[in-house]
Amino acid sequence: MWSSVVVVPPAALLAGALLCLAALPAPAVAAARPTGRTTLSVLSFGAAADGVTDDAEALVAAWRAACRVPRATVLLLPSRHRFLVSPVTLQGPCSTRLTLQVDGTLLAPPDMDSWPKSRRPLQWLNFKWLNGFTIQGAGTVDGQSITSLQDSSPADAPHQRSTVHWHSSGAKPTLVRFYGSFNVTVRNIRISNSPQCHLKFDSSGGIKVKNVTISSPGDSPNTDGIHLQNTRDVEIRSSRIGCGDDCVSIQTGCSNVHMKNIVCNPGHGISVGGLGKDNSLACVSDLVAENINVQNALYGVRIKTWQGGVGSVRNVTFSNVRVANVATPIAIDQFYCDRGGARCANRTGAVAITGVAYRRVVGTYSFQPVRLACSDARPCTGVSMVDVRLSPAASAPAGTVAPLCWNSYGEASGTIEPLGVGCLQRSNGYAMPLTQPSNYTC
Ligand SMILES: *[C@@H]1O[C@H](CO)[C@@H](O)[C@H](O)[C@H]1NC(C)=O
Ligand SMILES: *[C@@H]1O[C@H](CO)[C@@H](O)[C@H](O)[C@H]1NC(C)=O
Ligand SMILES: *[C@@H]1O[C@H](CO)[C@@H](O)[C@H](O)[C@H]1NC(C)=O
Ligand SMILES: *[C@@H]1O[C@H](CO)[C@@H](O)[C@H](O)[C@H]1NC(C)=O
Repeated sequence: MWSSVVVVPPAALLAGALLCLAALPAPAVAAARPTGRTTLSVLSFGAAADGVTDDAEALVAAWRAACRVPRATVLLLPSRHRFLVSPVTLQGPCSTRLTLQVDGTLLAPPDMDSWPKSRRPLQWLNFKWLNGFTIQGAGTVDGQSITSLQDSSPADAPHQRSTVHWHSSGAKPTLVRFYGSFNVTVRNIRISNSPQCHLKFDSSGGIKVKNVTISSPGDSPNTDGIHLQNTRDVEIRSSRIGCGDDCVSIQTGCSNVHMKNIVCNPGHGISVGGLGKDNSLACVSDLVAENINVQNALYGVRIKTWQGGVGSVRNVTFSNVRVANVATPIAIDQFYCDRGGARCANRTGAVAITGVAYRRVVGTYSFQPVRLACSDARPCTGVSMVDVRLSPAASAPAGTVAPLCWNSYGEASGTIEPLGVGCLQRSNGYAMPLTQPSNYTC
């Protein structure tokens, strides 16, 4: 499985070798582009680029050199080359703006998720402490993970592999992760087959993700597309995300996140949470998701919190959401519990949810059109629905379920189909819930 066929044109290999030789006397071979930027090729740092040899050392050496150049620098992974790289940390601070130009293929070691726990990294490409950084290119970042739960017909998912890895346990690696980084752009590249989350931003800000394609089998467990945590000022747009878990997952500490023109197919849709696990504090605010197309998914747009916990989710807008064959297009679940089968006890606290708007959510569902399950302790307030039109998918199994609305207050206007969001009453009416005072304000 390791030694998959490597197709590198001999000419490319030769060019690589020549560049490599030429580089020996002066490792930091720098070619000025017409733009005036400095370009360093990883081939100049001894990368074998054969898709089999570990090029991590060459990549790190090239990174260190590029990071020191005192002007805008491009670190190039050229097209028609395949770079297998073991887990690495590529860290700053760098002297100036750095661009990682991925035109070739960057490969993770196959099956990292089945490595023994002691050797298994938390992430494969770990970008840290960068300020003003871009990854772009026409290339692919391939996690080479065999994550599918079962065999599937190649017609359904051509890229899907079939071996099952039940023996792997514990945390699996995230493929590409940014930590403590600001003004980061990720664009045009394709990221596929991660053992777990594909692209993660943690404790970062000023993030732009644009024209990115993420793909993994729909039945690959826990393979979030994009995961945000403690990250603010984020723009994710014009991207296609297909995976086995949340398309975009927004966790505590995130604010001012804009998602626009995103296709999620397949997966679990756009998801805020689960928040408040183990009575923790969670603060999420100011999210907009517009022009979102969710297909063949478990959820469309969802907010999930555990019983217990403090903090809030505030000011969230979902607009122009088109769903097709989505089990539950609109969901707020304040009774979230992923402890396989066991029910989580109800608690007196909950992360408060307030100010959530659904505008023009249309399409087909296969299970339940709307599920607003808010907690008894802290009902949801300021929930608004305008023009929500959902009908059963032709493929819906025999029984669909009526909408649920529990302890959710707000207003519905425009066309609402199917009717039945009865508890969404005007919050200034008699039904305004008496919420307990929060002992923490985000
Ligand atoms: C989006 O990315 C693809 C793949 O890299 C590229 O071919 C295309 O030109 C990009 N589109 C835009 C508008 O940049
Ligand atoms: C990010 O970029 C903006 C605009 O280019 C700049 O004003 C800001 O200081 C940068 N952020 C950081 C943390 O450097
Ligand atoms: C809600 O969030 C959006 C997106 O960040 C922001 O533009 C808007 O000003 C916020 N509204 C309020 C009332 O805070
Ligand atoms: C928690 O509360 C909800 C709503 O009142 C109820 O439907 C559910 O059965 C309760 N769960 C448990 C485990 O008691």
